[in-house]
Amino acid sequence: MKNTMLEMSRYAALARQAVAEGVVLLKNEAVLPLASGGRAALFGYAQFHYYKSGTGSGGLVNVTHVSNLPEILGSDGGYRLDAEVQARYAAWLADHPYEMGTGWAQEPWFQPEMPLDEEFVRAAARRADTAFIVIGRTAGEDQDNTNTPGSFLLTEDEENMLALVCRYFNKSVVLLNVGNIIDMQWVARYNPGAVAYIWQGGQEGCRGVLDVLNGTVSPSGKLPDTIAHTPADYPAADHYGADDRNLYAEDIYVGYRYFETFSPEKVLYPFGFGLSYTKFEVKLLSADENADGITAIATVKNTGARPGKEVVQLYCTAPQGLLGKPSKVLCAFAKTKTLNPGESRTLTLTAPWRNFASYDDSGATGHKSAFVLESGDYVFRLGTDVRNAAAAFTVTLPLMVVEQQESAAAPAAAFERLRPGADGSPAWEPVPTEVELPETHRAIRLPKEHPQTGGKGIRLQDVADGKADMADFVAQFSDDELCTIVRGEGMNSPRVTPGTAGAIGGVSDALQLYGLPAACCSDGPSGIRMDCGTVAFAMPNGTCLAATFNEELSAELYSMEGLELRKNHIDTLLGPGINIHRHPLNGRNFEYFSEDPLLTGKMACAQLRGLHRWGVTGTIKHFAANNQEHRRHFVESVMSERALREIYLRGFEIAVKEGHARSIMTSYNPLNGYWTASNYDLVTTILRDQWGYTGLVMSDWWAEGNDRGGAGSTKHVAAMVRAQNDVFMVVADPEHNSGGDDLAAALNEGRLTRGELQRSAANICRFLLQTPAFRRSISRTSALDDQLEAMAEQDMQQAAQNGFPLTLRDGTAIDVAAIDNSYRRTTAFRVTAAEGGSYTLHLRCRAMPGNSPLAQIPVSVFAGRAFLKTMTITGAQTDWCDFTVSLPALNTGDEFFLRFYFGQSGMELGAVILKK
Ligand code: BGC
Repeated sequence: MKNTMLEMSRYAALARQAVAEGVVLLKNEAVLPLASGGRAALFGYAQFHYYKSGTGSGGLVNVTHVSNLPEILGSDGGYRLDAEVQARYAAWLADHPYEMGTGWAQEPWFQPEMPLDEEFVRAAARRADTAFIVIGRTAGEDQDNTNTPGSFLLTEDEENMLALVCRYFNKSVVLLNVGNIIDMQWVARYNPGAVAYIWQGGQEGCRGVLDVLNGTVSPSGKLPDTIAHTPADYPAADHYGADDRNLYAEDIYVGYRYFETFSPEKVLYPFGFGLSYTKFEVKLLSADENADGITAIATVKNTGARPGKEVVQLYCTAPQGLLGKPSKVLCAFAKTKTLNPGESRTLTLTAPWRNFASYDDSGATGHKSAFVLESGDYVFRLGTDVRNAAAAFTVTLPLMVVEQQESAAAPAAAFERLRPGADGSPAWEPVPTEVELPETHRAIRLPKEHPQTGGKGIRLQDVADGKADMADFVAQFSDDELCTIVRGEGMNSPRVTPGTAGAIGGVSDALQLYGLPAACCSDGPSGIRMDCGTVAFAMPNGTCLAATFNEELSAELYSMEGLELRKNHIDTLLGPGINIHRHPLNGRNFEYFSEDPLLTGKMACAQLRGLHRWGVTGTIKHFAANNQEHRRHFVESVMSERALREIYLRGFEIAVKEGHARSIMTSYNPLNGYWTASNYDLVTTILRDQWGYTGLVMSDWWAEGNDRGGAGSTKHVAAMVRAQNDVFMVVADPEHNSGGDDLAAALNEGRLTRGELQRSAANICRFLLQTPAFRRSISRTSALDDQLEAMAEQDMQQAAQNGFPLTLRDGTAIDVAAIDNSYRRTTAFRVTAAEGGSYTLHLRCRAMPGNSPLAQIPVSVFAGRAFLKTMTITGAQTDWCDFTVSLPALNTGDEFFLRFYFGQSGMELGAVILKK
């Protein structure tokens, strides 16, 4: 049983290793590694507020403590930090506390830097010869990065800090605590000795960084994105950030596919690049062509003086042919174990045909809507980044159809796309539209309706046990029940784990009578988000994990996450986020992996593998082409079918086919004419019919849907169900249609058939059958569940152990001054019932002056681990408001923890009284 336990020390060790392996060292002039024990000065505001992740749903993990850099770099294995520099920053910090901003997505992307003066830096350099300079950025939902100081660019004070510190210190090491690549042109201006992306590494982040700095770990992280000179250099720049229509005119030439083909000179640091403390020699041992593709075997030898790991990358240069090709495409990669100096290993790199085939959306090759390999020489390049990958072997192929598909989700809009011209320079060609290809807009195929039977006593367990068919099971549902089941309940559904994003399946008492559990989903991806004070483990962000290029490590780490989900009764994490890094200004890039779809897909598979080990899963999101936050609900992604298939869907396809994904979230944006949740071609034709997906599809929270040519609306749920986006997320009361959707009307008017609702109901039920929630509902739990349950109880007891003692009688008043009403704080009371009975808690509160009238200020009340109620007032409610909460029935002598949790600051408590 030992290995199945959620050992927090192992969890932390894996996360720490992932951060250390994710650190990408871009420059090192014999500065690193730096033996521990030496004197060092630490500069930069972000040292005090280490960004464990970006912000928004992907970052709201409630952790007890995240160590910052001074804590870790100043501890064992670290350095003697210069006290004067620390004191100067401490004084600055006292006057400039961390600015949170108020409201969703309002956290500033940077904190103002402490201005440095020359004399201070010069004196510090006399005391310590090494300086660490930390630059931090956050970003997240609803707001993109901008090409301005404090976002993509450095601020004047940051530039000044770099200029002075690099001038006076012998050794300067710049650490970039960012979720996404930022401007790097300053490296040439200030010439620091070493520069590393340390990303946002979750709660163990700073420890992983220390391991790299002091040489415990030799860096092996590689850039998952190309770093060019400016955002304008990226091929999407002309369209990125549009309000209504975002044309993907660069087509498949995203990231290095563009730069290597058209503009290698624009690159500062190439895709796949990252330095090590040792050296490796990579050689091709053999290459074979087989029925499925290419297999190359490479030897990697550590020819340097320190142990380390290396990532070997195989790129393919396909013949230009009729379709036009990027000059290099990553078709396989593998990472070594730690190699000691002089040690070598062989690595097998397997590249199925599909990894370097092209989708012919025009029919130019005579095989329209097929993945093809055009005839000619395929040059395979082996290396440790895209630029240094050298020709290793060539395979000559005839024209091959690798996979014949039917066209789907093609754009209706006419526009031109990029391709290499005859001389290799950028040229433009018209994108094939669905107008030219009338058959691409297929007729919607209606599923068979199962005649409704009413309740026959068949329970979901009977389907699980093979005693009944799914079709007979769903045939029992009334129309009301069918409409209810396709609505998710949230946020904070009382049917599932407190503080989570939503419940799926048994979202009404009537549905639960059929034995349907309510499955729980929670954000993701950087750890579990429970907005009720429950503590969870904060993971390194997606970009950091991608930079490790280490699938096995990600699987191990997410195996721990899987246990943690199971412990918290969460069936699916809302992640991994696998949208492509199309442009560096996307605010949510930190959650996603890379500009490359193969790396993206493989990392998603690794995470799913880890989660699936424990019967829970991840919801891959956002399907698809959700590549900008500005007007994310409205801006339409318009792209060719080729770009869609080769770039933007490819990661999802790999996660479905190889990673056995069973839950997918569609995105907010429309794609080629339809909001994705209602895009039949995307969600049914491609995902289910062509890829064979049989799992669950849910919408993003309060996403819109539309009928062809129509406007988007959160009420157009019929169009979503028709597309087989099975669940609309989320409404407060699914049974009573609190979201006011059009399902019943559509059913009456014949715009939606009962068969379509039954089909989604079956998709949902099939998903439920695989969940721990279902197994708990039929008491099929295991010893592991018992262990995790005991652990969860122990956590709660521990968190509440300093709770104030309270003897409960009729009329007991709680001292409101003892309740901490600040942001995300819990206060516990250890209650002993001096008199048994049924108690009601009476709570009086009001908004403090100074809140924005629209601010939502919630307080939640719990008895032990059981959630009782959340009461929310707005900033406008400055008069006293009264609420009541019923407590569970108590016997005399019963003991429990009564807990109050404040999701926001700004609420004043007037009185809390417990009455029978
Ligand atoms: C985000 C999703 C997230 C959901 C639930 C949405 O705003 O786009 O990624 O999972 O909220 O919090």
